[in-house]
Amino acid sequence: MSPVRMIAIDGPAAAGKSTLAQRLADELGILYFDTGVMYRAVTLAALWHEVPIDDEEAVTEIARCLPIDVRPPTVQDDRKYDVLMGGEDVTWAIRSPEVDAHVSQVSMYMGVRQAMTQRQREIGLRGDVVMVGRDIGTVVLPEADLKIYLDASTEERAQRRYLESQEMGEEESLEEILDSLRMRDELDSTRDLAPLRAAPDAIVLDTTSLNADQVFERVIALAQA
Ligand code: DC
Repeated sequence: MSPVRMIAIDGPAAAGKSTLAQRLADELGILYFDTGVMYRAVTLAALWHEVPIDDEEAVTEIARCLPIDVRPPTVQDDRKYDVLMGGEDVTWAIRSPEVDAHVSQVSMYMGVRQAMTQRQREIGLRGDVVMVGRDIGTVVLPEADLKIYLDASTEERAQRRYLESQEMGEEESLEEILDSLRMRDELDSTRDLAPLRAAPDAIVLDTTSLNADQVFERVIALAQA
């Protein structure tokens, strides 16, 4: 049984949060929960229903009502979990460039954040969880007993995302990925509500020149300390 019951991992897009969290959860035998999937599911639902992303009220209504479920993977295609939206498997659909382009705006809306934060807190407070996002250490689970803030240069993060997208057979260029990351970083860190920020008691790790194994070794040592 691990001494750490709640781990919060925050940081900008493509900083390596998911890879780290997945490995920590496996090693410690606790739940991995990536909160970004919830904002992505709301965005996808708005796009599918042709609700204008600027229509805060309508998007918020979707966030309040949308049944989102995250479960252990049932398909062997490199996924870490299944994401179900109203029963439909949207695990890969929520990763589309179109969702990438709109999710930061959706996550700025107060009603959306309230609905998501409440559900995330309920899950987090059960304990034995590694929770990943932008505001876990600051807002969702300020009582987490280990808080990590992962960062890396924008160029390095874009390069990592580019290699991932190549492996998936996607056709986004490095430039497009870099532009999309810059835009999301700007929106995520300058929004009024729960902006991307390290909690005062978070351990900040710059992973620009570290590989995934090195990041994991450092954090697992902290979790087991
Ligand atoms: O981690 P991700 O790229 O899947 O997150 C998608 C978007 O959701 C990101 O642009 C910011 C938002 N997000 C958030 O505001 N708060 C969280 N706890 C998680 C994600």
